[in-house]
Amino acid sequence: MEEEARAIKKGSRVCLTGAGGFVASWLVKLLLSHGYHVHATVRDPCDKKNSHLKKLENAMENLQLFKADLLDYDSILAAAAGCEGVFHVASPVPTTKVPNPEVELISPAVTGTQNVLKACSTLRVKRVVVVSSGAAVILNPHWPKGKVMDEECWSDPEHCRMTENWYCLSKTLAEADTFKYAKENDLDVVTVCPSMVLGPIMQPTLNASTLFLINILKGLRESKENSLYHTVDVRDVADALLLVYEKPEASGRYICASHPIKIRELIDTLRSIYPNYNYPNNLTEVDYGHLVSSEKLKKLGWKCRPLKETLVDSVESYKEAGLLNN
Ligand SMILES: NC(=O)c1ccc[n+]([C@@H]2O[C@H](COP(=O)([O-])OP(=O)(O)OC[C@H]3O[C@@H](n4cnc5c(N)ncnc54)[C@H](OP(=O)(O)O)[C@@H]3O)[C@@H](O)[C@H]2O)c1
Repeated sequence: MEEEARAIKKGSRVCLTGAGGFVASWLVKLLLSHGYHVHATVRDPCDKKNSHLKKLENAMENLQLFKADLLDYDSILAAAAGCEGVFHVASPVPTTKVPNPEVELISPAVTGTQNVLKACSTLRVKRVVVVSSGAAVILNPHWPKGKVMDEECWSDPEHCRMTENWYCLSKTLAEADTFKYAKENDLDVVTVCPSMVLGPIMQPTLNASTLFLINILKGLRESKENSLYHTVDVRDVADALLLVYEKPEASGRYICASHPIKIRELIDTLRSIYPNYNYPNNLTEVDYGHLVSSEKLKKLGWKCRPLKETLVDSVESYKEAGLLNN
């Protein structure tokens, strides 16, 4: 395909899947503020859990909601029709153990992504941005100890299966299939792999990573391990998704992770700002966990905000939503 044909027009018509979710809501807001006309898919446009989208600035003129399920190819095709770009964000992110991972996680992630990609090929979409995850990067027992993980590192599907890490498996298989499909069908696809996404919530429902922080504030976290996490602000993830969409030179996968932090340090930081929550105590040390690098994304021009800002804005938004007692 000619380079010129691939050129992205800023402010054109784009489609975004799973628009009512945590990450996607911020991306819808960002796209609308940049003058894009957004075809946003939700499973139920009448459900009040999606009503926050209609209140966004420029939504009246530039936001159209489409009813679509990832497993219903025709619904995806209809939503993406007329769009230059597609942001595929939707994927199940469980908050508890899932009884039937094949049906509840793997099929919507893998078949769902294939449906989106097929629709994009059919419609000759110029660029597709697929939201993968750090979960598709970090579960790799063969990666050399101490070596920082970059985009070359992939979670090992066998290891995910053996350890019953079904969410990691769903994201790894979906992302690997994405690049296979893109190559075979000459489709311009870029993936972004965010780490643990925190930040203020816009949507009325509780997504998994928001619940992670709320459980820390409430002392409800089940694991007592002092594990290593990489956090990233939801607004910085939205910026990264738009950046890789708009920059013609963007290609391949991009890790999107800003702050490596162990749970104890995260608790200490929160306690220094909010001393009165019921934080977990007596954490046990663990010596696993790798650092990951977002250098590739930074070279493209990505910047991220300080962790303290993310934590304060998160907690204040939970308080405003009545999710914390004080
Ligand atoms: N939050 C994180 O820490 C994090 C980190 C790395 C990557 N990610 C990725 O970021 C994306 C968004 O995650 P999130 O944290 O924003 O989670 P979320 O708020 O739970 O959003 C997930 C979205 O996927 C939609 N969805 C699930 N199954 C679907 C299906 N069969 N058909 C259509 N839509 C479906 C959900 O729609 P309903 O509302 O109808 O259920 C929801 O809008 C996911 O791809 C996730 O893997 C998230």
